[in-house]
Amino acid sequence: MNLLEQLNWRYATKRMNGTKVPQEKLNTILEAIRLAPTSLGLQPFKVIVIEDQAFKEQIFKDACQQPQIKESSQVLVFASNKKVTPELVKIYLELLAETREISVESLSHFDEIFNRIINQSENENFAWTARQAYIALGVGLVAAALENVDATPIEGFNAQALDHLLGLKEQNLGSVVIMTIGYRDEKTDYLFSKKKVRKNNNSLFSYI
Ligand SMILES: Cc1cc2nc3c(=O)[nH]c(=O)nc-3n(C[C@H](O)[C@H](O)[C@H](O)COP(=O)(O)O)c2cc1C
Repeated sequence: MNLLEQLNWRYATKRMNGTKVPQEKLNTILEAIRLAPTSLGLQPFKVIVIEDQAFKEQIFKDACQQPQIKESSQVLVFASNKKVTPELVKIYLELLAETREISVESLSHFDEIFNRIINQSENENFAWTARQAYIALGVGLVAAALENVDATPIEGFNAQALDHLLGLKEQNLGSVVIMTIGYRDEKTDYLFSKKKVRKNNNSLFSYI
């Protein structure tokens, strides 16, 4: 499978046909998201996978009136930590120590940077944790394309309403971006087979 062919094949699908994405493909996309790099490795977000049709309809009604929400196979909500807490950092450092079979004490060089982050405001923290979620979104979009699964990144939603529906605030989380996955409806999607609009190399890249 050719990466650039698949990146040309994918597009932000506006209409989907309701076909289910096979579990194996979903698992691959989720695994790619799990493997995405994040600053310091903290992964300060969760991804909520919504498959229940009634719940998707509720999201459509309350938080996001875009048809892909109802027509997709799954709605993935990327929700970042609002605040980077000592507890969150402790859990991560313990995971790091356990995975690499080292002591937590040997990770004390991380203290300064994490303390600096913990001492930032909630707004600063959320702006940073949201950026980490966007990286995972990007990796997820590429993974979906390689699996021949259509996907739409969606920022056009009411975050407050979605947070309420999912009970995110209570979990120190806030919704950042949505990714719907499924299959394009070639008959109803006005964007199907439209040419990609992209800057040319000269305007996007400069060499030093
Ligand atoms: C972070 C982000 C948010 C987006 N939000 C929406 C959205 O709310 N609804 C939508 O239909 N497309 C949305 N898009 C899709 C973009 O409009 C689309 O990716 C862009 O026009 C490039 O086209 P292509 O992805 O089809 O190649 C979003 C894309 C990104 C990366």
